[in-house]
Amino acid sequence: MAAVKGEETAMVEDAILGYLATHEVIADSGQFAYEHGLDHNEVVNVIKSLHGFRFIDAQDIKRETWALTDEGKKYADEGSPEVQLFLAVPPEGSIWMDELQKKLDPSVFKIGCLQAGKNKWVDMGKQVSRKVQHVEDKVKNLLIQIQDGQTSVSIYSLIGLIGLSNSKFLGGPVDEQGGDWKELEFKEYNFNAKGPPAEAGHLHPLLKVKDQLKNMFLRMGFEEMPTNNFVESSFWNFDALFQPQQHPARDAHDTFFLEAPSTTRKLPEEYVELVKRVHEDGGYGSRGYGYEWKREEANKNLLRTHTTAVSTRMLYALAKQPFAPKKYFSIDRVFRNEAVDRTHLAEFHQIEGLVCDRGLTLGDLIGVLHDFFSQLGMSNLRFKPTYNPYTEPSMEVFSYHEGLGKWVEIGNSGVFRPEMLRPMGLPEDASVIAWGLSLERPTMILYGISNIRDLFGHKVDLSLIRRNPICRIGIN
Ligand code: PHE
Repeated sequence: MAAVKGEETAMVEDAILGYLATHEVIADSGQFAYEHGLDHNEVVNVIKSLHGFRFIDAQDIKRETWALTDEGKKYADEGSPEVQLFLAVPPEGSIWMDELQKKLDPSVFKIGCLQAGKNKWVDMGKQVSRKVQHVEDKVKNLLIQIQDGQTSVSIYSLIGLIGLSNSKFLGGPVDEQGGDWKELEFKEYNFNAKGPPAEAGHLHPLLKVKDQLKNMFLRMGFEEMPTNNFVESSFWNFDALFQPQQHPARDAHDTFFLEAPSTTRKLPEEYVELVKRVHEDGGYGSRGYGYEWKREEANKNLLRTHTTAVSTRMLYALAKQPFAPKKYFSIDRVFRNEAVDRTHLAEFHQIEGLVCDRGLTLGDLIGVLHDFFSQLGMSNLRFKPTYNPYTEPSMEVFSYHEGLGKWVEIGNSGVFRPEMLRPMGLPEDASVIAWGLSLERPTMILYGISNIRDLFGHKVDLSLIRRNPICRIGIN
């Protein structure tokens, strides 16, 4: 329907639309072009343009045509090399090979000898004689069929036109310039129709919630800790946290130990000595555990069981500087050798926050937890005393879950012990309040996922990742 249209194009368009006014389909565009004396290329062009405007439906099916090469044409005329050779051999008696060669074209002679020999038509030696009286030139016959377009086509091509989308067009092509369109009925635009879904990457719910939490921490003035080491030594994961070496959490049932490299190469020796002393004999007002601390245990490599290992490294580094208050956070992966069920995986993400300042108390911890969790939409909190080797006092954090109608545990917290902080060299009046929770728990609540394996791991349904909303109300 272009404004400027070649005469040929207009004619072809007339023919196609005119035909479709009374017929449902054009099954084969090639046939159609031939029957109407049209150029097939032009027919295809018009079909493409009509299809582009959605006036017609068209299907494209590949056609394969065979054409004879010059060699093929020659054999179609003169016969195949093997038959030419056969005919050059006298019906009775024989012919000398070199004489036979002179009678034929060199390439015909070569191919002819090969094929006629293979077909057992002739006996070949110095002299050549016929073995059969009569041969049929099948090759020639096939070549002729191809030449005539009889066989040759193995897959038929077809550009079929299946109906028209607007019956007004059945009358023939429309002249837009002439104003014919004014008479036409157009389909109304549906402004409520949804566009096709955009093909794009989609963030996993864990990443989205992680990002929101990260922004929350940053707004509260926390700095992010570098958590890019999944492998940790037992020293930083346990010993530096005043966790005794016989503690059940250090058992291989709860912790993934590394086979290679099985031990760490470097630990800060002076600090190791102070940690050993506080485990064995105490100090800073503590009696210690009174057992023989073993370096081999501390050297063992493992997959970190909590990000508190990173917090410990950070506090150790902080203690090396002139004292300054700090607020740190991290959100990253930890590993525990646990039985996998609908709420537990062997790896999960831990959110951890800590505040280090002089004179912080349990009241400060409770206040910070209220600030933090209320931003997650959980303002109704309760605390329950608990035990961690590295915090005293320690509190489990509970929140009232409206949906479940009960109090659910949402985190763990505490004030780091002097046995942990003092060997690092932090001042006596400095204290550190800290808390940790899993990223999976709030994400599952926010996204209404009840089985953790639907959220993380190889069973995750990718369409869930695509469907879930970009933003959530709840975390702001
Ligand atoms: N490390 C604790 C856990 O793995 C969380 C925690 C962090 C507790 C900081 C107290 C203080 O559950």
